[in-house]
Amino acid sequence: MTQAPDPEAPEGVDLDRPNAARIYDWFLGGTANWAIDREFGERAVQTFPMIKTIARAGREFLGRGVRYMAEQGIDQFLDIGSGVPTVGNVHEIATSVNPNARCVYVDNEPVAVAHSQILLERDGVADRHAVLQGDLRNPADVWPRALDTGVLDPKRPIGLIMVGVLYFVGRDEPALEIVQKYLSLLPSGSYFLSSHLTDDGVPTNDGESRDKIHKQYQQSSTPFHYRSRAEFAEFFSGLELVDPGISWVSDWHPEAGETTASARMADDPSFSGGICALGRKP
Ligand SMILES: C[S@@+](CC[C@H](N)C(=O)[O-])C[C@H]1O[C@@H](n2cnc3c(N)ncnc32)[C@H](O)[C@@H]1O
Repeated sequence: MTQAPDPEAPEGVDLDRPNAARIYDWFLGGTANWAIDREFGERAVQTFPMIKTIARAGREFLGRGVRYMAEQGIDQFLDIGSGVPTVGNVHEIATSVNPNARCVYVDNEPVAVAHSQILLERDGVADRHAVLQGDLRNPADVWPRALDTGVLDPKRPIGLIMVGVLYFVGRDEPALEIVQKYLSLLPSGSYFLSSHLTDDGVPTNDGESRDKIHKQYQQSSTPFHYRSRAEFAEFFSGLELVDPGISWVSDWHPEAGETTASARMADDPSFSGGICALGRKP
């Protein structure tokens, strides 16, 4: 079904098929989504009612990871697959720790890029914040353009973020080589923060729902792919893993007294199906 173009849809937006950035925005309660995305999201919730909570838990991990890096002195971030801005954006969290923190956002979805531009025009500082449309799978394009913004200094440690995005890289695509290329470009002392969906070690009593969600996403413009814990760990080879190493998203530096989505998973963190880690380049 072809949707009538929304008057505010940025150029290049595919409104014929639901899209992960806009569905995720809907899961998180945002408004940068269209009927086709909401219908998809509602079906996903019917199949797998915890999916919104799981999306929030992933977002909360992103926030804790960024805060941790900023507290270690990282003051510049490259966030690839940054999504539609929502609660707890990377530059806001980083700035709350260090008012001079810098951030470049990259996403391949025009809606995510347009909304980030609007946010940065309103709240950002031109020489410290930038956004560009780019494809994670093309480091030879993304890296020089990220540096061309003038926001990042490639001689000083950078916090590279790929949270909730590597599972959109196909199993037949060179995901490991792509990540390793970015890591090779980072100076010593840089960090790599990432998370990934897995079907490895998740509760089996909802296995059917996970399979259904997986199949549903294959019909969107942005199918996702599970990777095992061992495959995810490979992304961090050569890095020093910050404790607790590879973990479930809700288990990574949980905050005391949290009443959030992550805390709701405390009884069974594997329920999220999201694994994560933070590594430091020696
Ligand atoms: C699930 S959202 C995660 C957003 C954010 N990182 C977070 O954790 O809250 C995934 C984002 O990755 C983007 N994305 C998917 N494939 C991408 C690619 N090849 N290059 C850049 N961005 C991509 C999507 O457009 C979407 O905005």
